[in-house]
Amino acid sequence: MASKRHRMKAAEIRAVAVIGAGTMGAGIAGEFARAGCEVRLTDTSREILDRGMRLLRLAQDVLVQAKLLRRRDANAALKRVGSQLLLADACEGAEVLVEAVPEDLALKKRVFAEFDRLCPKRAVLASNTSGLSITKIAAATQRPTRVAGMHFWNPPHVIPLVEVTRGERTSHATARLLMDLARRLGKRPILVRRDVPGFVGNRLQFAVLREALHILAEGIASAEDIDAAMTAGPGLRYALIGPLRTADLGGLDVFDAISRYLFAELNSEKGPSPVLAELVKKGKLGAKSGAGIHAYPPAELKRTLRRRDRVLLEFLKVLKAADRHSHG
Ligand SMILES: NC(=O)c1ccc[n+]([C@@H]2O[C@H](COP(=O)([O-])OP(=O)(O)OC[C@H]3O[C@@H](n4cnc5c(N)ncnc54)[C@H](O)[C@@H]3O)[C@@H](O)[C@H]2O)c1
Repeated sequence: MASKRHRMKAAEIRAVAVIGAGTMGAGIAGEFARAGCEVRLTDTSREILDRGMRLLRLAQDVLVQAKLLRRRDANAALKRVGSQLLLADACEGAEVLVEAVPEDLALKKRVFAEFDRLCPKRAVLASNTSGLSITKIAAATQRPTRVAGMHFWNPPHVIPLVEVTRGERTSHATARLLMDLARRLGKRPILVRRDVPGFVGNRLQFAVLREALHILAEGIASAEDIDAAMTAGPGLRYALIGPLRTADLGGLDVFDAISRYLFAELNSEKGPSPVLAELVKKGKLGAKSGAGIHAYPPAELKRTLRRRDRVLLEFLKVLKAADRHSHG
């Protein structure tokens, strides 16, 4: 009986609630709307909701300009997004809910308890948390088997990765539904079988960041050159074949030999990075404050971000074509 109620099919999901209309929520709402879902987006004020709707429109414009979306499909998608001020209105009739409120465990637990009260019993509740415990968030509800992580990457209209994370009590059916739903959005979902901090993507990203900051602090290379060591080198391969296949192709005997002297040399500091702590203390927060490790004059920043999105979209087209080619 219970398992029957679980058997929602991703292709049949129509009503989706997205909670939080910030950077991620607005983008995620657009992804579901383009896949044909009726989306209810909610936040705490009309101003924030209006800003979220502007972000959402902007994301569709970028896709239209990149010729990845037809204007009329973009317009149809926008018509499928409603902005609601009342959480109860957003939750009513929702089959799937995706939460994208700030990264604060106490807040997430509080809102999940509310979703549990307001959403239909069979609805699946997903969190876009970057790495908080799904098990702890799910424990705030009476339906932990129907709670999971669904972690989109920024910007959601560009990056294909979605990490579906199982909490200790998440059912197979829930995880499968979210994996299938992510595929329906044209994403590349991965299943994170165990609820570990940082899931998979951020564990990889932060392992690289820790080493990059260490190389910088040791004065081994400049910030510009450290970034180039990735973008002009392994980063290109990683985008196509990932770190494990890279090792396979290079020869595991070779990688084994290198790892024997190199692993011991890599930074394994457990505490915070002194480089990051120092920059943050000085108010150098990165692009948003005009400077971080690199400098970002305002006009240049706009150009850099536009270029990043345009090049990423072109690159994605190439990767998709390569994928079709290798499967065709
Ligand atoms: N920004 C990123 O690069 C990124 C990437 C992946 C995942 N995430 C995760 O996504 C989540 C959201 O991040 P963001 O960057 O979009 O944050 P954000 O601050 O841009 O947006 C959060 C929104 O939630 C709203 N909010 C707060 N309390 C609320 C409530 N009770 N009900 C409804 N709305 C509420 C806020 O008003 C705000 O508009 C976080 O868990 C974050 O870790 C962020």
